[in-house]
Amino acid sequence: MLYKNLNVNEKGHLTIGGIDAVELAKEFGTPLYVLDEDVLRENAREYVNSLREYAPEGSMPYFASKSLSFKEIYRIIASEEMGTDLVSPGEIYTAESVGFDMAKTIFHGNNKTDSDIEYAMKSGVGCFCTDTFEEIEAVDLIAGRLGIRQDILLRITPGVDAHTHKAVTTGNVDSKFGFPVFSGDAAVAVRLVLSKQNLVLKGIHCHIGSQITDIKPFLDTSDIMLDFIKQTGFDCEVLNLGGGFGIAYKEGSGSLNITEGVKTLCGYIGEKCNKLNIKMPKIFMEPGRSVAAAAGVTLYTVGSVKIIPDVKNYVSVDGGMTDNPRYALYKSAYTCLLANKMNGKADFTCSVAGRCCESGDLIQEDVIIPRPVRGDILGVLGTGAYNFSMSSNYNRLCRPATVIISGGKARIAIKRETFEHLTALEV
Ligand SMILES: Cc1ncc(COP(=O)(O)O)c(C=O)c1O
Repeated sequence: MLYKNLNVNEKGHLTIGGIDAVELAKEFGTPLYVLDEDVLRENAREYVNSLREYAPEGSMPYFASKSLSFKEIYRIIASEEMGTDLVSPGEIYTAESVGFDMAKTIFHGNNKTDSDIEYAMKSGVGCFCTDTFEEIEAVDLIAGRLGIRQDILLRITPGVDAHTHKAVTTGNVDSKFGFPVFSGDAAVAVRLVLSKQNLVLKGIHCHIGSQITDIKPFLDTSDIMLDFIKQTGFDCEVLNLGGGFGIAYKEGSGSLNITEGVKTLCGYIGEKCNKLNIKMPKIFMEPGRSVAAAAGVTLYTVGSVKIIPDVKNYVSVDGGMTDNPRYALYKSAYTCLLANKMNGKADFTCSVAGRCCESGDLIQEDVIIPRPVRGDILGVLGTGAYNFSMSSNYNRLCRPATVIISGGKARIAIKRETFEHLTALEV
């Protein structure tokens, strides 16, 4: 099986963390997000432990909220001693509402409004990752008004092509994010922050992209960031390398091992710091996908099977781009399987389609599974990150429930939306 928490039981059903997926679908309904807490915790722990082992004291991982944000996630992440990165007042509110230690948060975003900035400061967000000159001025002004000195990381664009999908590439020169090194803006931003009374420059940040399965772009990025620290000569306490470690979405596809990746990266940075004769900064990372994605499985009920002779077969399920927009957006790879017929002969090639009024509403193409019939349960693996957090109510569909499983037990973490929720704000 693609992930080690998945198995097949004596009924030929998929099991997730030892629980029969068909029983989960029966008990909680479909579509259903299932999240294996034990997998998520294991990944979180791997980041915490490897940064403790290979990076200077005080280094730590911050879970990227954008990949998965709801109350129970923050409780889990906090108990694993991770921090979290937040990109909106909504994410701040959610983390704060369960008592997350706000000192262990980083506030991101390329266009924070004045009210976002004030809200974040009043919530006690630990550090701002500032993206623009306008933001530096605004953060300084608002911090002054509130009588605080705000810790700052500057988001730098290193100009590295991470060779991942264009829509999730962020570190190259043509990006809406950060201060480019090549234009000199990054150095100007350092001087500007250092000149501000209400700001404390803690270090620099970069995030070159997501779903990167090769360590090389991270090493190249570290080179540029460390050269930049040397050239600007400021006392850089923190180097935040963002997220981006990729996972295998299909059998045989590449991934970056967390411990190996962190070890290689930190070793490389340590050597480079020696060469440059600078102190190795604390290393922060912001993993999202590599913590949460493999922990998730989405379960759907098959509705119809359409066969277009010599063209294509479509298997339609009771969810779609509303709960998983990633194939429609970036043609993301996923493994689909028939959860109630795991031992069936997989000889039926099809596109798995959703129920939205869009031809592009596909979960995956060229899927090979046993020929399904109405009522079968279809599972999509690796949906723990960027599925719930990117979901919508398009076509007035209700978001699925989220069930968390751990130690062989299932509990509701997010209830299924109802029509009342859909219309709650309407007058
Ligand atoms: C600033 C920042 N940090 C962290 C992440 C998380 O990336 P990933 O989920 O690939 O680890 C992202 C994702 O886009 C990001 O923009």
